Amino acid sequence: MQISNFFIIVLSVLFTLSLAEKCNPNDKKALLKIKKALNNPYDLTSWDPNTDCCDWYLVKCDRKTHRIVQLYIVASNISGQIPAAVSELPYLEFLMFHKLNLTGQIPESITKLKNLNFLDFSWNHLSGPIPPFLSQLKKLNLLDLSFNNFTGSIPSSLSKLPNLGALHLDRNSLTGEIPESFGKFTPEFTNLYLSHNQLTGEVPRSLGDLNFTLMDFSRNRLQGDISFLLGTNKSIQILDISRNIVEFDLSKVEFPQSLTSLNMNHNRISGSLPEGLVKLNFQYLNVSYNRLCGKIPTGGDLQSYDYTAYFHNRCLCGAQLPECK
Ligand SMILES: *[C@@H]1O[C@H](CO)[C@@H](O)[C@H](O)[C@H]1NC(C)=O
Ligand SMILES: *[C@@H]1O[C@H](CO)[C@@H](O)[C@H](O)[C@H]1NC(C)=O
Ligand SMILES: *[C@@H]1O[C@H](CO)[C@@H](O)[C@H](O)[C@H]1NC(C)=O
Ligand SMILES: *[C@@H]1O[C@H](CO)[C@@H](O)[C@H](O)[C@H]1NC(C)=O
Ligand SMILES: *[C@@H]1O[C@H](CO)[C@@H](O)[C@H](O)[C@H]1NC(C)=O
Ligand SMILES: *[C@@H]1O[C@H](CO)[C@@H](O)[C@H](O)[C@H]1NC(C)=O
Repeated sequence: MQISNFFIIVLSVLFTLSLAEKCNPNDKKALLKIKKALNNPYDLTSWDPNTDCCDWYLVKCDRKTHRIVQLYIVASNISGQIPAAVSELPYLEFLMFHKLNLTGQIPESITKLKNLNFLDFSWNHLSGPIPPFLSQLKKLNLLDLSFNNFTGSIPSSLSKLPNLGALHLDRNSLTGEIPESFGKFTPEFTNLYLSHNQLTGEVPRSLGDLNFTLMDFSRNRLQGDISFLLGTNKSIQILDISRNIVEFDLSKVEFPQSLTSLNMNHNRISGSLPEGLVKLNFQYLNVSYNRLCGKIPTGGDLQSYDYTAYFHNRCLCGAQLPECK
């Protein structure tokens, strides 16, 4: 009698526990596969199969559906490849594997994550091409693949991502040109980071049609005229084209009022600094190592910079530099 009572109690406790567990069993299964694929790292100790996966660290369940919507593992001593089981979390909206030591390529199965709007694989050792299939993740708002070992050219299909706001492909070993199609991003697209690669050719004119906030093209081998990225009708705040081989006459360029940071050092820019620069509120300006000439205009913030913002030009003079002759 007592034994059967005991069993009834145990069964009812188990029953309540199972009712209390919010985690979807498929999600739990997928997360445990991920844990195994990453060699059961210390950071995933809380991923205990006997507990509710909605209570685990580094994941988040949706409040209503109780499906896993976020997975973020950051800065831990993990190595291996991107676990294929990630694609078995169909409700995932936010996926971040940042500063792990992941190697290998991005698996195509990731295209199953149709709800993904934030994808960050930055600071790993991922390699291979930036896969064109990423353009199937139509809800993506942010794609960050910076600080990896990706090679090959930038897939033009990325511009088909209708909701993309920011693209970080900086600090890889990408080659080829910036795709012409990048001028076809929707107006929501405002931040483009392509620095520290080996990109060549001219910046496509089509990019002048977009309303960027930030463009970082520094440390590539881009050439030609980029003055069409500026203009009084633009909304750009930060432009970094430093350490390329762009070549144009700065004298006639009009600057948008929004511009707060302009870094153009180490290029082949000629002409003189336009008077219009004094009307801007710069937080950062650097035009050193170009082919500029003439007097640094007086006024605005132009005198507040160190002489190194202007040095190593052909014959720029005045203000922080030697007097004009
Ligand atoms: C990282 O993990 C490996 C084995 O998984 C271990 O040998 C190594 O000491 C760890 N490194 C750090 C910095 O914790
Ligand atoms: C990263 O992974 C590589 C190869 O998997 C290994 O050789 C290296 O020691 C790891 N680095 C760190 C900091 O864990
Ligand atoms: C990634 O690139 C860096 C610098 O180019 C190189 O030192 C490193 O060995 C590469 N790592 C892998 C895993 O390919
Ligand atoms: C800025 O003006 C140029 C030429 O007048 C035009 O082609 C371009 O579309 C305009 N850009 C924006 C963002 O309005
Ligand atoms: C560009 O963006 C700014 C704000 O970021 C906005 O005020 C302006 O109307 C936009 N211009 C065009 C042509 O879309
Ligand atoms: C401008 O850029 C040059 C070249 O990289 C650098 O030496 C200098 O310190 C920079 N100056 C300022 C004020 O940022």
